[in-house]
Amino acid sequence: MSEKPWGGRFESPTDEFVEAFNASTDVDARMYAEDIAGSKAHAKMLCQQGILSSEDLKAILRGLDVVYGEIESGELEFTIALEDVHMNIESRLTALIGDAGKRLHTARSRNDQVTTDTRLYLRRRTDGMIDRLRHLQSVLVLLAEEHAASIMPGFTHLQTAQPVTLGHHLLAYVEMFERDAARFLDARQRMNQCPLGSAALAGTTFPIDRYMTADLLGFDAPTANSLDAVSDRDYIMELLAAASICSIHLSRFSEELILWMSAQFGFIDLPDAFCTGSSIMPQKKNPDMPELVRGKSGRIIGGLVAILTTVKGLPLAYNKDMQEDKTAVFDAFDNLEGCLRVFGDMLPGMKVNKEVLHKAASSGFATATDLADALVRAGVPFRDAHEIVGKSVGHCIREKIELHAMDAAACAAIDARLNVEMVRELSVEACVAARDHIGGTAPQQVLQQVALWQQRLATGATASDSTMGSGE
Ligand code: ARG
Repeated sequence: MSEKPWGGRFESPTDEFVEAFNASTDVDARMYAEDIAGSKAHAKMLCQQGILSSEDLKAILRGLDVVYGEIESGELEFTIALEDVHMNIESRLTALIGDAGKRLHTARSRNDQVTTDTRLYLRRRTDGMIDRLRHLQSVLVLLAEEHAASIMPGFTHLQTAQPVTLGHHLLAYVEMFERDAARFLDARQRMNQCPLGSAALAGTTFPIDRYMTADLLGFDAPTANSLDAVSDRDYIMELLAAASICSIHLSRFSEELILWMSAQFGFIDLPDAFCTGSSIMPQKKNPDMPELVRGKSGRIIGGLVAILTTVKGLPLAYNKDMQEDKTAVFDAFDNLEGCLRVFGDMLPGMKVNKEVLHKAASSGFATATDLADALVRAGVPFRDAHEIVGKSVGHCIREKIELHAMDAAACAAIDARLNVEMVRELSVEACVAARDHIGGTAPQQVLQQVALWQQRLATGATASDSTMGSGE
């Protein structure tokens, strides 16, 4: 009985199954470094405020270092009997240093402690995620530079629409990942406030200095309302929303890579190291990594739904339901980081079949819009031009030829305004080169965007300036 830090008012022990069911060590053990940093900051503040003696502080700081070492080396194993990372560490500290360890929890509750640890932990992981996003962006920018003028079909409705450059297509994902990084940064900034001192829910009777703990832990400020601070899980929702959107971008990208690698498309080949074979069909090389990444978005989005639903009906302030908050976000972060890593490592080895891409862009009447534009420039109203080109396409389908192969007689038969020169000038190169404005697919524009991105990624704030405050 006495081994539970809260056991005083209890007469009989916890049910054995409940003990295991109630425990969160398997999920929260990974926050041990943050828990120890938080305890160090709290102890220093207690001492500065005259709430803890300097002898006790010294013992606590030394003891926490020992506990940290024991966890790192695997010497200290957490027990579910002590429920979570917080009570395991405090109990080991007390075993090491005695009464001073028992004084550490003055003016603190696990309710402010757990959300402080979680914010610190997720702040570090968010910085890591942003770094992964930046890396993937640089990989894509490099590929975009190489393929600034590689022509491929652009699709709408997955039907050939107009020629685009592969560089332009890849830079579309650089834009998406930029918004993802911005969402993570935005959430990071909002969550970077220190709940310590909110205690159980109402604050504490001790003369604490919340600015000091906030500062020691690298937070921008203390939270302003104790009830809000211990029950707020917005930051987990926001991070999971950012993670979900990012995973959707990766999933769309995956879908394209999977299509492009099929024999029917034949646009690309992914490196062997990121594919697997079939145990029965010897010819198979399957794009497992994009498929798995596409699949991961399901569980990451599941995590977002889980946290939203968990918090939805909760009265203020802390409720035990909230222990479920970490499972989803940790799982989502582990998996999303894995996805970003796999893409960053896989894409530099992607083989692009430029001839196949070019051929695909040159068939399927991808230049039809440009023929209509040429008629418009010759004074034909756009709707008439659309009709004339539509008839031309019909003619070509019947004759099994491409638009540029139409002869003068065929042009004249369709419409007197259709000049064979316009038809002969059609080329996919001309199509992409003509879209030469900001946001357009012209190789020129792609190279300009590449240069801009290279500059931004080299100088950009990567949020790696975070300081957890080692507590030193
Ligand atoms: N294990 C708990 C969690 O992760 C820690 C906070 C518990 N607080 C409490 N009063 N039971 O949420």
